[in-house]
Amino acid sequence: MAATLHSGALYMVAVILVLLSLHGSPAGAADMITATQPLSGQQKLVSQGGKFALGFYQAGGGSQDKWYIAIWYNKVQKVTPVWIANRETPISNPASSVLTVWTDGNLVLLNKSRSIVWSSNTTITAGASNTTVVAVLLNTGNLVLAYASNTSNMIWQSFDHPTDTQIPGMKFGRNKVTGVSNRLFSWRNNMDPSPGIYSIMMDPNVEAQYLFMWNNSRPYFTPGKFNPQTGALFSGIPAMTVISQPNSIYSYEYVNNDKEEYFLLTIKDDTIFLRTVIDPSGQQKGLVWLEQKQDWMLYFTQPSPCSVYSFCGAFSWCSVDNVSMCNCLRGFSPQSPTEWSSGNYTGGCTRNVALPCSLSASSRDEEDRFFMINNVKLPVGDGSQTMQAASKSDCEVACLNNCSCLAYSYNGTCSFWYTDLMNLQQDPDNKGDSIFIRLPASEIPRTKSTRGRTIGVVIAVSALALGACLMAVLILLRRRRRIKGLHNIGVNLIVFRYRDLQMITKNFSDKLGGGSFGSVFKGVLEDGTVVAIKKLEGVRQGEKEFRTEMSTIGNIHHVNLIQLLGFCSEGEHRLLVYEYMPHGSLDGRLFKSSSDDDVLSWNMRYQIAIGIAKGLTYLHDKCRDCIIHCDIKPQNILLDASFAPKVSDFGLAKLLGRDFSRVMTTMRGTIGYLAPEWISGTAITAKADVFSYGMMLFEIISRRKNVEFGKQHMDSKFFPVLVAEKIQEGDVKALLDLDADMRGDVNLEELKRACMVACWCVQEDESLRPTMAAVVQMLEGLLPVNMPPLLLGIVPHCELWVGKHGL
Ligand SMILES: *[C@@H]1O[C@H](CO)[C@@H](O)[C@H](O)[C@H]1NC(C)=O
Ligand SMILES: *[C@@H]1O[C@H](CO)[C@@H](O)[C@H](O)[C@H]1NC(C)=O
Ligand SMILES: *[C@@H]1O[C@H](CO)[C@@H](O)[C@H](O)[C@H]1NC(C)=O
Ligand SMILES: *[C@@H]1O[C@H](CO)[C@@H](O)[C@H](O)[C@H]1NC(C)=O
Ligand SMILES: *[C@@H]1O[C@H](CO)[C@@H](O)[C@H](O)[C@H]1NC(C)=O
Ligand SMILES: *[C@@H]1O[C@H](CO)[C@@H](O)[C@H](O)[C@H]1NC(C)=O
Ligand SMILES: *[C@@H]1O[C@H](CO)[C@@H](O)[C@H](O)[C@H]1NC(C)=O
Ligand SMILES: *[C@@H]1O[C@H](CO)[C@@H](O)[C@H](O)[C@H]1NC(C)=O
Ligand SMILES: *[C@@H]1O[C@H](CO)[C@@H](O)[C@H](O)[C@H]1NC(C)=O
Repeated sequence: MAATLHSGALYMVAVILVLLSLHGSPAGAADMITATQPLSGQQKLVSQGGKFALGFYQAGGGSQDKWYIAIWYNKVQKVTPVWIANRETPISNPASSVLTVWTDGNLVLLNKSRSIVWSSNTTITAGASNTTVVAVLLNTGNLVLAYASNTSNMIWQSFDHPTDTQIPGMKFGRNKVTGVSNRLFSWRNNMDPSPGIYSIMMDPNVEAQYLFMWNNSRPYFTPGKFNPQTGALFSGIPAMTVISQPNSIYSYEYVNNDKEEYFLLTIKDDTIFLRTVIDPSGQQKGLVWLEQKQDWMLYFTQPSPCSVYSFCGAFSWCSVDNVSMCNCLRGFSPQSPTEWSSGNYTGGCTRNVALPCSLSASSRDEEDRFFMINNVKLPVGDGSQTMQAASKSDCEVACLNNCSCLAYSYNGTCSFWYTDLMNLQQDPDNKGDSIFIRLPASEIPRTKSTRGRTIGVVIAVSALALGACLMAVLILLRRRRRIKGLHNIGVNLIVFRYRDLQMITKNFSDKLGGGSFGSVFKGVLEDGTVVAIKKLEGVRQGEKEFRTEMSTIGNIHHVNLIQLLGFCSEGEHRLLVYEYMPHGSLDGRLFKSSSDDDVLSWNMRYQIAIGIAKGLTYLHDKCRDCIIHCDIKPQNILLDASFAPKVSDFGLAKLLGRDFSRVMTTMRGTIGYLAPEWISGTAITAKADVFSYGMMLFEIISRRKNVEFGKQHMDSKFFPVLVAEKIQEGDVKALLDLDADMRGDVNLEELKRACMVACWCVQEDESLRPTMAAVVQMLEGLLPVNMPPLLLGIVPHCELWVGKHGL
C-alpha cells in the first residue's frame, strides 16, 4: 500500500508547496559504498540529486548509545529516518563501526569487534564478490545493491525491506513469484526502532486490500478494497478520492499482474517530502515536511485510536469523545500510571482488588458482583464463548460459577469472556450492547435503595438466592430495568427527595460556591459517591416543564460537559445533583502567579481550552436541540481529577427564560464575557457563546483577568486589544515580555494560534466568528488560522464595557 491521500490533504499539500522554497543542489558527497570505500563515523552518503542521505542515526534523541544505519530526507533539518537497516541490532559507536560490502557481495554492518551485526543477507549468485558489487543510494530513497559493471542489475534493495515508513516511489505489496510480502512494522516506541506490535501488510486473502495487524495475528483494520472506479481510493474511506488529472503531480495506482501485486504512490515534484508511517500506537499517519514550520505536518491518519487493537490495553474502554481517550473500568487502575498519563495506554489496567474467587472459599465473605456498562461495542477476545440461556440471570449464574469467567453479556445468547477484556469501546452510534464485568463485592458497595431507586450497579444474584426466592428475583429484575448505574453511558436520572438531599449535604452546610443560578453544596451519597448539589434560585417553572428540562439535560453526555446525576423538584425546591469535580472551577486555578506551585502549565491550559471548545461544540451541534450556554466564563468551567475541563450550568439559561433583562440581572459580574448582541438586544445565537469563549480564551492564555493583564506597566491595555495589535505586528512573542507570568513553558506556536483564534471569536460581527467546531480544529492545528481582521470594531466596545462597568 502506498500513501493514501485525501483530496483536501492534497490541496493543502499543493498550497504548502508554494511555500516551500527548496531547490535541489546536487551534493558533493558520495552516493556509493564499495569494499574499498566503506562508511563509518560521521560520513554519509547523499543521493545524486541530493534528496536522500544515508548515515548513522542515533535514536532516542541522543540519550542512548544506540546507533542505526538509516536513510532520511537530506534537506529536512529534523532528521527523521524513513528506513533503518539494523533496527534490532544497534551499535554503540559509529566511529568504530563500518558499513561495507562483504566478501560474498552482501552489504554488512560490522561493529567494533568486526562482527556482522546486520547484513543484506541475500543469496548472491556465484561470481559476485566485494570487487564486483556496489551499494548505491538512489535519489528515490532506495538503497540498492548492484553489480558495479551495470548498476541497473539489482541484487537487493531497501524498498523490498521497509521498516515502518513508505515514501513515494516505493511499491508496497507482494511478489507472487517468491511469495514475499512487504510488511511495515511500527517502532516499539518513540525511542526504540525495533519492530513493535503493529504492522501493515497486503491482505493475503483479498486482492487490492491491505490490512493492519496486531502481534502478527490479529487484523484490526482495513481501509477496504482499492476501488478507483467509484471515485474513492478505498471502499472503506469514501473521503479519499483519486487524483486523476493527467498533469497532476501525484498518482496513485494499484498494479496486479502475474508477478506482483502492489500499491504505488508517485510524486513528480522533488521538493515535496512525504512519508507515511505506522506509528507505535498502531495508527497509520501521513506526514509532509513544512519548511516554514520546520516540522512535519500530519495530513491524514487512520484508523481512529479506538479501532486500534489493544490501544487502551486490557480492562479499559475507549471513547472517541473523551479527552483521556482510554479509561479504566470500574475496579481497575492503570498498570503503569506514568505511561498512562503520558498517553500510552497499551499497558492497560489491572484490578485494584484481586477476585476473591481465586482465594480459598473460606476466606471470602461475599460472592462477586457484576458491574454493568451500557452502550458498548463488546470486547474482542479469544476467550469469548457462547451459551444458550433463557434469561440474563442464567448467564450471570453461569459466569459466577466459573472463577475464570470475567464478564458476560446477554442478548438471548450468553457470551462469556475468560481472558483480558480488549477493545471495549463506547458505541458512538448509541446502538451498543451491555456488558457485565465481574468485580469483587468490595468494589461495588451495595446501596440501600430509597424509593425503589438504586444508584450504582446491578447487583449480582447469587445462585442460592435464585433458588430460594424466585419471586424476589423477578421483582428485582423488573426493577433493574429502570435502574442504571452512575457510570453507565446512558444514565437515568435519580429523583431525590428534598429530605434526602438535606441529609446528604448535612443540611447544606458545605458550600462549594455560588454561581449565576444559585449556590452549590457538597454532598455524599450513601454509596460514598461525592456529588455537587446546586440549589436553583429564581426558577418559576412548573414541575412538569422542569422535569422535561431535566431529562433533556440529563441525556447530555460528553466528557467535557458536567454530568447531571439527578434532581429534586418538590414544592418550591429545585435542586440539581451533579458529579463532583475535585479540582473545582477554572477561575480558582487559573488566576495564579507563576510562583505558586500548583499553577496550570501551558500545556494543561491549552488542553483545557480545547476541551471546553469540544464541550461547547457538543452543546451547539450534537444535542437534539442546539443548547446555547449563555454564561461561559471560568467560574462555569470545572476541572476533574485529571484537570480535564467540564462545562457546567448548561441548559439553565433556558430555565430562567432567554429574555434579556433576566439573564443580565442573573449574570451580574459576567459582563466581560458577554457578546455585544446581548447589549444591542439582537437575537442570541450560538455565536454568543463563541464570543464568551474567546474572551475566556484570552484569560486562559494569559492566566490573568483580561483587564488586569500587564497592570504593572504604564501602557496597560485591555488584553484582547493588546493581542490584536501584536498579531497585526506579527510579534505575538512580545506579549511574553510584558508579563513575567506568561513566560515559563509557553509553546510559541500554540500561543500564536490561540491568540488568533481568540481574536476571531470576539469579532463584533457574529458571522465572522468561527463555530466552536472550527475553534476545536484550529486549536488542534487541523485547520489553518488566518490573520484575524483588526479588532477595531469590538475593541472599543470591550473597553466601553470595561469603563462603564468598572471592571
Ligand atoms: C575482498 O574479499 C577478499 C576475499 O574474497 C579479501 O581478500 C579482500 O581483502 C576483500 N577486499 C576488501 C576491500 O574488503
Ligand atoms: C559485536 O557483535 C557481536 C555479535 O553481535 C557481539 O558479540 C560483540 O560483543 C559486539 N562487539 C562490540 C564491541 O559491540
Ligand atoms: C540471514 O537469513 C537467514 C535465513 O534467511 C537467517 O537465518 C539469518 O539469521 C540471517 N542473518 C542475518 C545476519 O540477518
Ligand atoms: C544493464 O542491465 C540492464 C538490465 O539488466 C540492461 O537492460 C542494460 O542493457 C544493461 N546495460 C549495460 C550498459 O549493459
Ligand atoms: C507503552 O508502555 C509500555 C509499558 O506499559 C511499553 O512497553 C511500550 O513500549 C510503551 N509504548 C510506547 C509507544 O511508548
Ligand atoms: C504475541 O503473540 C505471541 C505468540 O505469537 C505471544 O507469545 C505473545 O504473548 C503475544 N503478545 C502479546 C502482547 O500478547
Ligand atoms: C471455566 O471455563 C473455562 C473456559 O471455558 C473452562 O476451561 C473451565 O473448565 C471452567 N471451569 C469450571 C470450574 O467449570
Ligand atoms: C447475540 O450475540 C452473539 C455473540 O456476540 C451474536 O453472535 C448474535 O448474533 C447476537 N444475537 C442477536 C439477536 O443480536
Ligand atoms: C471520560 O474519562 C473520565 C476519566 O478521565 C471518565 O470518568 C468518564 O466516565 C469518561 N467517559 C465519558 C463518556 O465521559
